[in-house]
Amino acid sequence: MITLKNIHKTYGKGNNRLEALKGVDLTINTGEMLAIMGASGSGKTTLLNIIGTIDRPTSGEYYIDSVRMDELSVKEMAVFRNRVFGFVMQDYSLISHYSAIKNIMLPLHYIKLSRAEKKLRVMRLIEAMKLENRKDALPSQMSGGQKQRVAIARALVNDANILLCDEPTGALDSVTAMEIMSILKKLNSEGRTVVIVTHDQSIAKKCDRIVEIKDGIIFNKAN
Ligand SMILES: Nc1ncnc2c1ncn2[C@@H]1O[C@H](COP(=O)(O)OP(=O)(O)O)[C@@H](O)[C@H]1O
Ligand SMILES: [Mg+2]
Repeated sequence: MITLKNIHKTYGKGNNRLEALKGVDLTINTGEMLAIMGASGSGKTTLLNIIGTIDRPTSGEYYIDSVRMDELSVKEMAVFRNRVFGFVMQDYSLISHYSAIKNIMLPLHYIKLSRAEKKLRVMRLIEAMKLENRKDALPSQMSGGQKQRVAIARALVNDANILLCDEPTGALDSVTAMEIMSILKKLNSEGRTVVIVTHDQSIAKKCDRIVEIKDGIIFNKAN
């Protein structure tokens, strides 16, 4: 379970000071599929980065189960992040001169597994994401949907239990967007916690629960 208590995040100083999160309280249950909706600039990415320990809150408390995340050292945070979270971004964030298979393998660099085991994991994901014919392709040779499937495979290769998706369908047409949503839904039904940031109501409606972030504060929303 993820618990955020009175989370504040302030960027900059003096005249440049900007309070992006103004006391966020949010609980995300293990195995839940949650949508976080909000307009551009409302603090969605800031919040997701704090949940994913890419960034730290300025104040407040952040727990995963009983571990106080915001008080971990930089190194402890990195270990936790690599073990627990998978990230899926709107722009795919693939390495442009790496093939699909090499992109998917990237997070395994830090994991102690035999070469054979790594290869097996990657091949299973390539199959699950229906990328058999595209495994040697470069990002520039793939469609948006294929690129996002590569990104999802990369997010899963470390056996992440929590998937954090920042506008995962934002660059896709509506048919491809729904394909990606079915994949995320399936991963959720297999037991993973899925958090999706979106400003698209039709995407949010596919989730179990919707919360809305407005001007740095979270509101519950009827689904
Ligand atoms: N690194 C940063 N430095 C300064 N301001 C930032 C930074 N990141 C985001 N902001 C500001 O914080 C607010 C929330 O941004 P963000 O979390 O990216 O919103 P969203 O993802 O909902 O569009 C915005 O006003 C944005 O300009
Ligand atoms: Mg954003």
